[in-house]
Amino acid sequence: MRRIGMLTSGGDCQALNATMRGVAKVLYNKLDDVEILGFKDGYRGLMYNDYRVMRPSDFSGILTVGGTILGSSRQPFKKMRVIEADGLDKVAAMKKTYRDLGLECLVVLGGNGSQKTANLLSQEGLNVISLPKTIDNDIFGTDMTFGFQSAVDIATNAIDCIHTTAAAHGRVFIVEVMGHKVGWLTLHAGVAGGADIILLPEIPYDLNCVLAAIERRHKEGKRFSILAVAEGAMSKEDALLGKKEYNKKKSESPYPSVSYELGARIEKEIGREVRITVPGHTQRGGSPDPYDRFISSRLGAAAGRLVVERQYGRMIAFNGFDVVTVPLSTVAGKLKYVDPKCAAIREAKDMGICFGDE
Ligand code: F6P
Repeated sequence: MRRIGMLTSGGDCQALNATMRGVAKVLYNKLDDVEILGFKDGYRGLMYNDYRVMRPSDFSGILTVGGTILGSSRQPFKKMRVIEADGLDKVAAMKKTYRDLGLECLVVLGGNGSQKTANLLSQEGLNVISLPKTIDNDIFGTDMTFGFQSAVDIATNAIDCIHTTAAAHGRVFIVEVMGHKVGWLTLHAGVAGGADIILLPEIPYDLNCVLAAIERRHKEGKRFSILAVAEGAMSKEDALLGKKEYNKKKSESPYPSVSYELGARIEKEIGREVRITVPGHTQRGGSPDPYDRFISSRLGAAAGRLVVERQYGRMIAFNGFDVVTVPLSTVAGKLKYVDPKCAAIREAKDMGICFGDE
């Protein structure tokens, strides 16, 4: 009997189930005697020995279903070695569960923090295979993560919907897109939705550039302007602050998010109405789109093959359109940022889109 553990960790996304289905189909197809144990709510299930024995039918009919049949939770990596109120040594507990259940390996579907924990468990001697999950597309070592494209669809749709109402009223609109540290989602949705101004965490903005872009459009007779702003976008002044100082400023701010502060500043300067739309967690919800179903099936199947071949300590990744594997140790602890000088931004700027820096 080959017994495989599986868990989904961190913020969810649309294609978690589709990816698990890909893994499971390969395992049930290729191995005669295999059992999959599904841990509840990510690493928490592994810590507290909370799991269920999965049946092949559990993985049927879930290709199009968002969320995760296993549940998920955030277990911050920085607290993995910290003993908290319940006295649990989390790493020791996870290792114990793994050994007690006689697991041969653990398949982890997770984002950046979860990859760090996957690497930690691998270094602690567990056999781990991971898969790159996140709507942020910010995992180092892969060109694409599952969940990203479905989120782009939703954020783009939000911008599309805003276009008609913005035009009707002649207003400035800000659509705040998820992404605290990286701006892939905002960049893709912003360009796909025809935003006039796109602000990313990687390119601190100058308010004067933003105002000039809005005024330019106004003078050209355009009735409205749409800004796609990442959750983590920041002004040039804020970018000069240290992390602690910036977090303090944010915690004392009367505004619920960066877009509200920016909106108030724009409204004050131009004297016209600014409205804010925050699609928020809708960007992680609903069904995976066909592209995500396709890539998550490929990634999941590739993870299944690694299990069959007993190759561990690796994350399945995309290099262009090729599915490859990368060592967990090279993935953990790094983020994949948008390069402000990349071709996509150069092309967008050539089209007249403002990124707040010039
Ligand atoms: O990592 C995915 C993500 O959706 C980010 O884009 C967003 O900033 C964050 O999670 C929101 O986290 P939570 O669901 O914990 O509020």
